[in-house]
Amino acid sequence: MSNIGSYDERIKDFSWALSEKELEYRDGDVINIGWYCSDRICQQGNGDKPALIWEGLGGVEKRYTFNDVRLASNTIGHFLRGLGISAEDRVCLFMDKIPELYLGFLGVLKIGAIAQPLFSAFGDESLYVRLENARTKAIITQRKHVGKVRKIVEKMPWLEHIIIVDHDGKKELKERETVFSLENADPVEQFEIHPTTAESPSVLHYTSGTTGQPKGVKHVHYSLISQYLTARWVLDLQDGDIYWCTADPGWVTGTSYGIIGPWSLGITQCVLDTGFSPDSWYKFIQKNRVTVWYSAPTAIRSLMKAGSEKVKEYDLSSLRHLASVGEPLNAEAVIWSEKVFGRPFLDTYWQTETGSMMLTNFPGMKVKPGSMGKPFPGIIATVVDVDTFEPIAEPGKVGLIAFKPGWPAMMRTYWNNEETYNSKFINGWYLPGDRAHIDNEGYFWFTGRDDDVINTGGHLVSPFEVESALLEHEAVAESAVVAKPDEVNMEVVKAFVTLKPGFEPGPDLELKIMNFIRKKLSPLAMPQEIEYVDNLPKTRSGKIMRRLLHAREWGEEIGDTSTLEDDE
Ligand code: PRX
Repeated sequence: MSNIGSYDERIKDFSWALSEKELEYRDGDVINIGWYCSDRICQQGNGDKPALIWEGLGGVEKRYTFNDVRLASNTIGHFLRGLGISAEDRVCLFMDKIPELYLGFLGVLKIGAIAQPLFSAFGDESLYVRLENARTKAIITQRKHVGKVRKIVEKMPWLEHIIIVDHDGKKELKERETVFSLENADPVEQFEIHPTTAESPSVLHYTSGTTGQPKGVKHVHYSLISQYLTARWVLDLQDGDIYWCTADPGWVTGTSYGIIGPWSLGITQCVLDTGFSPDSWYKFIQKNRVTVWYSAPTAIRSLMKAGSEKVKEYDLSSLRHLASVGEPLNAEAVIWSEKVFGRPFLDTYWQTETGSMMLTNFPGMKVKPGSMGKPFPGIIATVVDVDTFEPIAEPGKVGLIAFKPGWPAMMRTYWNNEETYNSKFINGWYLPGDRAHIDNEGYFWFTGRDDDVINTGGHLVSPFEVESALLEHEAVAESAVVAKPDEVNMEVVKAFVTLKPGFEPGPDLELKIMNFIRKKLSPLAMPQEIEYVDNLPKTRSGKIMRRLLHAREWGEEIGDTSTLEDDE
């Protein structure tokens, strides 16, 4: 029996008060995600239950019970407090998927500070713009990543502490650097958790837009009310489950459903901190007897590519529920997963800004492969006309996805960027910036983004950020960056560049430019192809027409270019 039972019944008189009741939260109470994910589970008598089963390179394993999570997050919180970090200070978590990332996240929240997780593969430039925007006070990182922080530290007088969690004592520490070792620290049994309330800020996740620098999406502790119930009903997490969320907590899926959702429910989760390969993933599921698996379409397509025979080499019979997020989940992937795993991957749609799942497929609901499903109970969703912003009544007609604001996990603002935040609301709707249509049974079907942001393997990349970084390369005069179709990642980054005089186009330079971006920004943002051109198409006002280049890549009609030229 699934947790949700009947979708139609659940949606009838739905109120978020139901989640508040299950969490024993009343309006005005103290609510702290760190406490809910550890202390409360221990108080319920589950302190000895495994919370985290972690595997790193070479099969090294570490295990933590809920009591261990409680103690470790207390200990990290205590250490941070000792450094003078207090409520609402931003603390960046810049680590691989090591236990300290998960435990540190809760420790930061316990002292009322704001957790700012950043993807550890980010290069120094990506890191800098996000730390600069948030005026981050401390960064928790590893030896292998500290070099990137050192490169930019002089530009960041506000960054007071650089905390290294795996320092071996061999190399000398530089200014502002401190060592913290979870293994060697005295566990803190009694800890005074900061009395955060519903609207206290909790997490700051950065997301990329078409123009401008990345935006810091500000969430609050009350988001728990959404994350708890969606994890319970959509992921169907139940007491004996072994759950695996493959997302990195540098991105929102890895925190909302890789930490908060499962741990607030007292669920055991496992983490694999190694690179992707079909064998290592199947082996991990087999070894840990994973029951619920939340992943992303690119991973599923990569598994598909490795073939159905590969699946048969492993015993994956423990799997009972699979879900996916981050990019369009194509019908073939749903059908294939049903064939080889005995159950389909169920699609969910949401974004950094929404904080929790919005459009979902539930256990027990009719699955229409290729559809994102229906709104989660309590979510009022529609598609609106692209010009009038009025809801479209006609099934099948494409419009902009629109949500009525008011669910608990909705972002509260973009950090220091109220103007862009306000621009996301029109006619009383929140517009996430995606297009879809709704069929006659109320299922939503994704048709594309409404902007130029590139979604590569479920990660958003801003063409603006890549173009700006390209211009810093000595050979590049001008650049335009668009998405290019890709069989597995759906989209990859492609750059068109014009060169400065004296530079010869060719594969050597292409490699150099690619590496330059990989190091500065990240492997995700690295162009997979660079096309040298003599000129870039421009509007009369001199703005580069990305849309024209995009249409060419996708073999689409270019349409009326005269309007494009007049554009903007
Ligand atoms: O364009 C949509 C796409 O990913 C965007 C959100 O990205 P991000 O904020 O990084 O969060 C990703 C994980 C929550 C959306 O605006 N997207 C997300 N889920 C889907 C999707 N596109 C199609 N189908 C989905 N299920």
